[in-house]
Amino acid sequence: MREKQTIRVTLLLSFLVLVTKGKGIRKKYYGEDNTLVLPYQQVNKTIQMKGGDVYDYIDVNAQPSLSDPRLKDHKIQMQPSSFPVGLDIDPLLSHSELQVQPSTIDCPVGTVPILRNNRNFTMAAHNIEGVGSTDLQREAAGIQYHGDVYGARASLNVYEPKVNKDSKDLSATWLQIKNGGEHRDKIGVGLEVNPSFSGDTFVRFHIGWADGLYKKSCIDHSCRGFVLVNHGWGLGTRLKLVSVYDGPQWELKVNIFKDPITKNWWVLCGKMNSPIGYWPSALFTFINHKGDYVFWGGFVQGPTVSSNAPQMGSGHFASEGFGKAAHIRNIQILNENNSYITPEENFDYGTTNSTLYTVDKFHVDTAGMSIYYGGPGSAV
Ligand SMILES: *[C@@H]1O[C@H](CO)[C@@H](O)[C@H](O)[C@H]1NC(C)=O
Ligand SMILES: *[C@@H]1O[C@H](CO)[C@@H](O)[C@H](O)[C@H]1NC(C)=O
Ligand SMILES: *[C@@H]1O[C@H](CO)[C@@H](O)[C@H](O)[C@H]1NC(C)=O
Ligand SMILES: *[C@@H]1O[C@H](CO)[C@@H](O)[C@H](O)[C@H]1NC(C)=O
Repeated sequence: MREKQTIRVTLLLSFLVLVTKGKGIRKKYYGEDNTLVLPYQQVNKTIQMKGGDVYDYIDVNAQPSLSDPRLKDHKIQMQPSSFPVGLDIDPLLSHSELQVQPSTIDCPVGTVPILRNNRNFTMAAHNIEGVGSTDLQREAAGIQYHGDVYGARASLNVYEPKVNKDSKDLSATWLQIKNGGEHRDKIGVGLEVNPSFSGDTFVRFHIGWADGLYKKSCIDHSCRGFVLVNHGWGLGTRLKLVSVYDGPQWELKVNIFKDPITKNWWVLCGKMNSPIGYWPSALFTFINHKGDYVFWGGFVQGPTVSSNAPQMGSGHFASEGFGKAAHIRNIQILNENNSYITPEENFDYGTTNSTLYTVDKFHVDTAGMSIYYGGPGSAV
């Protein structure tokens, strides 16, 4: 990969402009069936970011996820039991670039930020998938790996592909792990422009998962289950620094791995691999021990994808290369011995429709595999 331009591996969030006491605020939480749960959830503090996003700080032990019946006896894990070999780690509460809040803001330790989102979750809760679903129109471009994995990582080039605000389509850059044959459990992390979920066309950080047994797909807190532990980083958070075509490039490191002791699937994020939270092992049927498939790349999905496909990546074809096409690099899997390795076989790369989106410049070096991907969609 050409890197004459400096890639600053960082991620900044909207700055805080307002701090209010959340006392007495009545909060609604929507469960998987759009039913109201925990209507009088204790909010310890509420903050509003520049740009309008509002976060409620909730006691980590009172977060909505924990009301899932499968987590009845769940004991929160504040940190992984151990980390994969050779990973640089920033402790949970340090002031890294991952902080939602500048260090001058005193966020209560022991709380986690939950993005307030008044959108209707009914549709969104079923609208997050990686490759493999057949019920929605979708296209994908990237790398896939078939084989046993205990985690996977990548650095995602941050772009904000254009998606029609009034459509129910989304455009994502995603790392996904699956297991379970046809009835797959899936977990994923990455970046998405998803207007019908977030109500805007900004690129945001999301996690998503699908329960292969109950065939339910979830994003962030639209279902209960994902346990957030980082007090400085919320799901759905907006990425402030977005790469510019032929200009500054920004990346976000994402990492999913299975805790060898508790079997929970952790999400680490940012330059120093800060733990964000985890999917408790109890949520899943098929992916409890390991994954058997990984995807890294872009995907678009939604009802108008075949007639009016949104942009993927930077909106430019992969052949344009560094600074113009979107890239993913540092692509590796975690093996059974808790070490990152670059796959030498059982992987391939490609696109579902090369008229709309392409992949190019596949490359392997000591940091792993890298690839360019994306395209303009229907706006060719
Ligand atoms: C949040 O507020 C509740 C009620 O005031 C309090 O009992 C709890 O200790 C607070 N949690 C944190 C982490 O500050
Ligand atoms: C959410 O959207 C669905 C489908 O559009 C609709 O049936 C439902 O009434 C909406 N719920 C709320 C609370 O607005
Ligand atoms: C993991 O470690 C064991 C014991 O040292 C070894 O036999 C095995 O080959 C290793 N597996 C991989 C994938 O490196
Ligand atoms: C790719 O997309 C174009 C434009 O939507 C369409 O005309 C073509 O049939 C698609 N090709 C395949 C292989 O799906």
